[in-house]
Amino acid sequence: MPEDNGAGSAEQAVARQPDHRSKATLLWALRSPCPRGCLYCYFGTVEKHRARPVTGIGQLSHLSCDDLSPGQVLAFARTLPGSRIRRVVLAGGEPLAWPPILQLIRVLKDGALQVIVCTEGTALNRPEMTQTLIELGVDAVSVSLDSVDPTYNDQLRPPRNGKDGWERVVSGIEALITARGDHEYPKIGIYSVITNQNLADLEAMPKLAEQLGCDYFIPQPLALTEDHDLHDMSLATDHIPELRDRFAALGASPPSLHIPRGRYPEQFEASISHPLATVTGCFGGRTLFFAQPDGRLWDCPSTYRIEATTPERRRTIADADARTLFQPGDCGDCALFSRDCVNMWPLMDFSQIIGDPA
Ligand SMILES: C[S@@+](CC[C@H](N)C(=O)[O-])C[C@H]1O[C@@H](n2cnc3c(N)ncnc32)[C@H](O)[C@@H]1O
Ligand code: SF4
Repeated sequence: MPEDNGAGSAEQAVARQPDHRSKATLLWALRSPCPRGCLYCYFGTVEKHRARPVTGIGQLSHLSCDDLSPGQVLAFARTLPGSRIRRVVLAGGEPLAWPPILQLIRVLKDGALQVIVCTEGTALNRPEMTQTLIELGVDAVSVSLDSVDPTYNDQLRPPRNGKDGWERVVSGIEALITARGDHEYPKIGIYSVITNQNLADLEAMPKLAEQLGCDYFIPQPLALTEDHDLHDMSLATDHIPELRDRFAALGASPPSLHIPRGRYPEQFEASISHPLATVTGCFGGRTLFFAQPDGRLWDCPSTYRIEATTPERRRTIADADARTLFQPGDCGDCALFSRDCVNMWPLMDFSQIIGDPA
């Protein structure tokens, strides 16, 4: 087993949260359906799942029929204020394509929780959507866009309607930035998945983000199992010299653009060099939880961690009360590090962008 590669940063992340045993973040994959069909998506592709439906515990699918009802989601959300959860990251599927999304955000913001929305961006072209996100006081909106090259982006992140490609995502970002005007929030950022085909976007995308007026840029390594059709696009050790150069250039981004600094480039690299390693003192399971559209609740989003969860540790948010559900966990040292984990670190870095939760 390779050496510990995450301890410093995990401890620093925890140290930044003085009250870390009581404050926690919920990464909430809210809904399964999505108007886009990204080829690498954690939810798989509709075409493959039509041919072979997925059944495994914790496996995600855009075709899932088990998503919690709006009533169940809202009932659980009403119990979050007063619980350990102080920050909710709404992801998916596509959260902004779910009709009651603004109702849910209102419940969370009325409960004084920090709310970060992760979106594929198309819905931001709807003025009533951007206006309401601003009025509700959403803290941050992260838009996924992988490249400055529309063709590359749209090949990997194709819209299912054939229309809402790269231009519509960029116009959505512009619409939100314009509508925000002089408001401080939401902070607006771009998330890019980095493969061996778009390493240059580690430099080009922060420049685009800055030109658009974004507040942050976060690169994330493609995380796919070896049997995935696109696994050949994953970064490998021979990309490390270029990766280092590109991260050095990224580090020279203007201070007005927040990028993951500190040990993030090392973790990114470590996930490529050591696909399996030990992390000491990981915050997953202590200060980060992961809920799936069907309500299943996990200690963290790592695939390996989910697979290793014992039956007695399997829980659900369905009909549960968050005030008793999120007890401080004993999940700290972990031998199940994976590329998924690298994508957790910038989530915990959000205090630098939106401040600490109340
Ligand atoms: C699952 S999406 C949900 C929110 C929204 N639909 C979106 O695309 O932003 C959350 C983030 O995970 C990223 N993602 C999905 N599959 C991935 C993979 N296999 N490896 C790395 N990142 C991935 C997406 O690009 C996006 O930034
Ligand atoms: S937009 Fe997000 S949820 Fe939808 S397919 Fe792409 S990565 Fe997956």
